[in-house]
Amino acid sequence: TADAELTFEFTPNASPVPANERAERLVNPGFGRVFTDHMVTIRYAEGKGWHDAKVGARAPLTLDPATSVLHYAQEIFEGMKAYRLADGSAALFRPRENARRFRDSARRMAMAELPEALFLESIRQMVRADRDWIPEIEGGALYLRPFMFASEVFLGVKPAAEYLYMVIASSVGAYFKGGAPSVSLWVSQDYTRAAPGGTGAAKCGGNYAASLAAQAEAIRRGCDQVIFLDAVERRYVEELGGMNTFFVFDDGSIQTPPLGGTILPGITRDSLLVLARAQGLTVREAPYAIDQWKADAESGRLREAFACGTAAVVTPIGSVASPDMRFSIGNGGPGELTERLRDQLVGIQRGELPDPHNWLERL
Ligand code: PLP
Ligand code: COI
Repeated sequence: TADAELTFEFTPNASPVPANERAERLVNPGFGRVFTDHMVTIRYAEGKGWHDAKVGARAPLTLDPATSVLHYAQEIFEGMKAYRLADGSAALFRPRENARRFRDSARRMAMAELPEALFLESIRQMVRADRDWIPEIEGGALYLRPFMFASEVFLGVKPAAEYLYMVIASSVGAYFKGGAPSVSLWVSQDYTRAAPGGTGAAKCGGNYAASLAAQAEAIRRGCDQVIFLDAVERRYVEELGGMNTFFVFDDGSIQTPPLGGTILPGITRDSLLVLARAQGLTVREAPYAIDQWKADAESGRLREAFACGTAAVVTPIGSVASPDMRFSIGNGGPGELTERLRDQLVGIQRGELPDPHNWLERL
């Protein structure tokens, strides 16, 4: 379409962060606090379509207080990483999947759908502009955050007629402080994340807002992360606030909750399923009940469990607690299969292993 052929107007940041200061910030960036010199903006208006594509200096936005997103939360985002390869070039991992999921999220939130070609080009432009911000530390990457919100100034409750799409980028290291060997989970009893027919499969800001009280409770209870159960039976394990979950059994099989509309279809989840199937593992996408998980952990049938996502990569689950129970998994550290799958995934992402599925896009 004509939209997809929009050309980006590039205005380099006239006062970028000096190289020595940038180098300092990249030593130990943590997650989501160090930002780069540029940002992408593209506007949408009903009747006009996508227009005004720009790459320019990262800067604050000015918004009218009646901007629709501030009231009704019509907002979606994506999360993806650009990696530095051994030869110094940069690469994206399965960016088309993010482009597709962004459209799916937009459709669910009754927003304008950004053409996938335009999404992909915006990401490439951003990485080209700020490639010097990819940290060279182990596990470092440039975390790209495309997002879009209702920018129409209107208080009526309806799908907006105007949207602003943006990409910002953040230099990141490990998501969990101190690169924890495993995370402890709190099983939320009072809260659920998503119900059938709701927005659980969309990557919209509202899902994360709704998860925060539960996450805060997990922290109060001395756990690292909350894990949500299904909203209907309050029994089946769904996912964490920002990660999918996997279970590894003593017969070598692995299991993950099915995509039924209430969990986010993770690209890491899908990649691990492909890697596992390719090496002949038995893989089930099937519901797993919390009481079964406890019984399996205690009998030794369940050997390992892990959470996965772009930000957290693959993170072992060490223990699970709720008001009326507590159990540990394996020896509390990474299990053998967890480590193997993680190493395979990271090896492909970093260009250190063969890429039989053509997942890497080199820039
Ligand atoms: N589940 C939720 C709720 C998430 O926010 C994320 C992170 O994006 C994931 C799962 C994992 O998705 P992906 O592997 O595509 O990053
Ligand atoms: C991601 O892994 O990209 C996420 O979105 C998780 C969290 C940072 C929201």
